[in-house]
Amino acid sequence: METRILSTSEYDIALAGKIISDGGLVAFPTETVYGLGANALNEEAVKNIYEAKGRPSDNPLIVHIAEKEDIYPLVKEITPKAKALMDAFFPGPLTIILEKSEKIGDVVSGGLSTVAIRMPKNEIARSLIQASGCPIAAPSANTSGLPSPTRAKYVIDDMMGKIDGIIDGGDCEFGVESTVITLATETPTLLRPGAVTKEMMEEIIGEIYVSPAVLEGMAENEEAASPGMKYKHYSPHTRVVMVQGTKEQYEEFVNSRKDCCALCFEEDNITIPKITYGRENDELAQAKELFDALRELDELGAKKVYARAPGKNGVAMAVYNRLIRACAFDIIDLTKPYTIGITGPTGAGKGYICQKLKERGFRIIDCDRIAREVTKKGEPVLVELAKAFGDDILADGELNRGVLARKAFATKKQTRLLNSILHPSIKKKCENEAEGLCVLDAPQLFEANMQNDCYRVICVLANEQTRIKRITARDNITEEQAMQRISAQHSDDYFLEKCDYAIYNNGESVDTQIDNILEVIL
Ligand code: TXA
Ligand code: MG
Repeated sequence: METRILSTSEYDIALAGKIISDGGLVAFPTETVYGLGANALNEEAVKNIYEAKGRPSDNPLIVHIAEKEDIYPLVKEITPKAKALMDAFFPGPLTIILEKSEKIGDVVSGGLSTVAIRMPKNEIARSLIQASGCPIAAPSANTSGLPSPTRAKYVIDDMMGKIDGIIDGGDCEFGVESTVITLATETPTLLRPGAVTKEMMEEIIGEIYVSPAVLEGMAENEEAASPGMKYKHYSPHTRVVMVQGTKEQYEEFVNSRKDCCALCFEEDNITIPKITYGRENDELAQAKELFDALRELDELGAKKVYARAPGKNGVAMAVYNRLIRACAFDIIDLTKPYTIGITGPTGAGKGYICQKLKERGFRIIDCDRIAREVTKKGEPVLVELAKAFGDDILADGELNRGVLARKAFATKKQTRLLNSILHPSIKKKCENEAEGLCVLDAPQLFEANMQNDCYRVICVLANEQTRIKRITARDNITEEQAMQRISAQHSDDYFLEKCDYAIYNNGESVDTQIDNILEVIL
């Protein structure tokens, strides 16, 4: 099919209107993103939209109108809240969902009983709707799954040869799609954030519920309030990972990576290849530049992209919502004190794995060392322990570990008492040492409840023979004693169930296992 590139002249708009009223497809600019329009009342024409985009047929389209009155024939009823929102925000980047009238076919509504209506502010869009003489069904004019087009050039990339015409109307004002709110539910529900923010609408109609899918991924079997939210979206071909953290944390993290690039704010100090999307405090610029930046990423040819996370309120909610989808919900959280927690039973060789991680640039925080430090002569923790377990745990003011162990591990209650004295100060000291990419080496990670302070938790396991050999050599004890110690520890299944990853440390392929895990989590 030949695709005509049209200008915004009166003649070309009239021509585009005629193409649409005759059942054809034309892409056109709006203040949000470019739309791919067809006559909303012509089911055959609307089917072709799904075809051209490669869009799943259960994902309904927005119907665009030129005047507020044009909504009446398309919906069952205008509720008072719908009326109030229309008065406040039409024309503009807001889409309202209401129960549909018989005029709206099942192709447009994706089989739902509701319809999404929007009155764009962009003059070209409205002249086109007027020229066509019908409401225009239009999704964003991108190939399904790719970022929505904010410039005619991207529409041409995706749609050339697949549709009848493309109106080149320059760059879009907002750059993210309209806010979508449904008034067909008991409480108005925000389905997609945009430039008309939750706060702006709440001033007019009161409380608005935010659909959980707006800021989080959806569970596999969850029913989507808005079908569009369940699909991976806006994704460039390059894998994007969102990095949550301060400017400094983000900079340190990405500047130490290889073979990747950064999607960051303008003021970030980045030494690897980068593309920016606005400044940290300029949400409108972030919204305007995000999709453009996502499309440009592929041109850099990096293997992986680390994106600086935007805020979550106001217009930034829209930016965050698009970016987590572009990342397929892959987020690294540097605001947790530790990147990796390492745990596992005695003799499995946690220390060896930590050494390997140190070679790969991680700072290692060794809980055993810190436990020794907080129980040195004169330390407040030691004083407290003596109060709880008796002065005979001390010899010349130094801790006698053997005596303490005998007493503290005699009963579960005593063990809990020991932990309640030891763990808080160990935890505090570890946190003081945490900085940048770091590993918490903690045999008692779960007992000390520190797993939630780690971005990911790895257990180190080894078969029993290997462990016995290591323990007897290390602690100069008999095989029998070593076996006794092992049987007092948690089973492998305990660790496998609680940890994100396991490393089998029996002497082979340890480096490969570590690198594979790091590849996935970083
Ligand atoms: O800014 C925009 O809204 C752009 C421009 C072209 O107007 N259009 C746009 O359309 O973004 P589209 O199809 O890419 O996104 C429409 C979203 C989808 O997530 C869809 O699932 C949802 O709105 N939607 C449409 N009708 C719905 C309905 N009846 N119930 C729930 N969600 C609906
Ligand atoms: Mg879209």
